[in-house]
Amino acid sequence: MTKLFRDKLTTKYLGRTLHYFPVTESTNAAAWNLVAEGCENGTVVLADHQLKGRGRRGSEWHSTRDYSLIFSVIYHIDIPPEKLGLLALLSGVSVVDGARVNLSFPLQLKWPNDIVFQGKKVGGILIETRRKNDGFIVVAGIGLNVNERNEDLMGELKHTATSIYIESGKRVRREALLASILFYYEYYLENLHEVIPQWNTACAHYDQVTSFHSGKEVIEGTFHGVTENGYAVIESMGKKRIFSGGGIEI
Ligand code: BTN
Repeated sequence: MTKLFRDKLTTKYLGRTLHYFPVTESTNAAAWNLVAEGCENGTVVLADHQLKGRGRRGSEWHSTRDYSLIFSVIYHIDIPPEKLGLLALLSGVSVVDGARVNLSFPLQLKWPNDIVFQGKKVGGILIETRRKNDGFIVVAGIGLNVNERNEDLMGELKHTATSIYIESGKRVRREALLASILFYYEYYLENLHEVIPQWNTACAHYDQVTSFHSGKEVIEGTFHGVTENGYAVIESMGKKRIFSGGGIEI
């Protein structure tokens, strides 16, 4: 897994230190252990299988051994706390650009952290942060359904999720895809102002009527993209409202 990755990697620092596990509990958990040991900025943790993959809001993330692309990126960033939401968006646009350039595969994004294809989920992003000095240590965990076949998707996922292989009929070299995603990840970390316009372009529901879930409230409104801090803009009954969290049904 790692030789091809290293051959394809064109970044300056992101992914130059790679920790590969055939199996681990969660690449995010492994990443925090490496942070505690004082790992290099830009270290990437990659696994072929996770036993306790973490999803958003305490959910579990299921991946398929050897078929999913599961990894976490560790970096330090100096950013005001109100802009932390940008990091999930940055991760999303890096995946979209990486898949477009490496595979000519057109992924899209769904607020706030989902990677989708024609309304079905292909991947998810889990950002975990801890304060460090003036900024934050970030562990950005990304899980992508890459080479899964229909029979690998369990239960409800059969209807709500898909993989790049299912949609394109082509097997993917996960190492090359990862190297391409990391190239864009590093680029956007250095060009944060490009994240929002790119995210809005890749958004699957831009200017569409959506059901927006914020806590217990459900707002029917039009999604008008994201603000410079990465918050969702929803227009409902003639009023624009801004949300930092929540989820969307499209
Ligand atoms: C979501 O709920 O949509 C986010 C899922 C994030 C899953 C990835 S897989 C790699 C990394 N390690 C984890 O334990 N979770 C993230």
